[in-house]
Amino acid sequence: MMRKKTLSMVALAGATALTLAACGGGGDATDDGTAGGGETGAADGTTMRLSLNQTEEHPSFIALDNFGERLSEATDGRWDIEVYPNEVLGAQQESLQLVSEGGVEMAIVSGTQLENLNEDFLVFNLPKVFDDVEHQMSVVHDQEIVGDLYSSLEESDNLTVLGGFTQGARSVYTTSTAVETPADMAGMNLRVQESDLHIAMAEALGASATPMAFGEVYTALQSGVLDAGENNEVSYWTQKHFEVAPYWSYTNHLVGLDYLIINSDVLASMSEEDRAAFDEEWTAAYEEHTQLWDEATQDAIEQATAGGATFSEVDEEAFAEPLLALADQFINNDVQQALYDAARAAAE
Ligand code: GCU
Repeated sequence: MMRKKTLSMVALAGATALTLAACGGGGDATDDGTAGGGETGAADGTTMRLSLNQTEEHPSFIALDNFGERLSEATDGRWDIEVYPNEVLGAQQESLQLVSEGGVEMAIVSGTQLENLNEDFLVFNLPKVFDDVEHQMSVVHDQEIVGDLYSSLEESDNLTVLGGFTQGARSVYTTSTAVETPADMAGMNLRVQESDLHIAMAEALGASATPMAFGEVYTALQSGVLDAGENNEVSYWTQKHFEVAPYWSYTNHLVGLDYLIINSDVLASMSEEDRAAFDEEWTAAYEEHTQLWDEATQDAIEQATAGGATFSEVDEEAFAEPLLALADQFINNDVQQALYDAARAAAE
């Protein structure tokens, strides 16, 4: 299992270098939420750095950038967010480490990363747990369902989970030929995120799993290290994977989830008033993200098609059974079962 090793073992040297290179805009936060030095006003506010692995065209960048702007206005410049796209502050595993240590204040990380810190998170990384984006968003922002889960990393890792952005439905794409059934994936190296569950998911899809960080996938597809990837259309387009793996097959195996995480000390240092503004603007941000998602998806399909990609339907039924079996295989405690049951109940 990969569980519990991430934060203690990720290379600290790299993290320190990144901390020094990252340029925060303001002084340290103080208990009353004002900027270090006790003055207020935009110039002295605290700018939180947010690590993201997507490009500036991606809905996540757009919604987060707007979030920062509104937060700054709402707090008279006491709090702002600077979004660093394209993994410039590190891939998601490093970002998790940095936010935990306080070298970077915030990050977007995929659910698979949090599963490695607390395996209860794996429930929301299961194929078929969410029917669609609307269902997913209603579950992952229902505090009665997720409240304990989202605060579960505060003591151990100094991380608070604030909620999520959808990754939309994920499907498979290949370098050589469109796949229609799991048998077509036999012998293919399929890139998955760094998660035991998703390694098993690759096998359920009929492939061999190669776990890898997001930013390395393009080159690995291009060089033949990988035969296939799995993602949403938006990342397929923005990361240009369609250039090297032009055969998209609609397996729709998973509605993926990204989380917004923040260093718990930073969050606790906000005044009550600023925290309320922060929560309100974050809610507006994930709502904006959800609204942008469909159009971004349509746009990505058009652009990738114009760039030579083909999008094909598959025999979804042929993939369904082994994917559904993963829930039984991976759910192994009462907390996970309760999360799963609550998620499924919300679908009905
Ligand atoms: C999506 C998701 C990212 C994730 C990536 C991946 O693009 O939004 O957070 O890192 O998939 O497959 O690694």
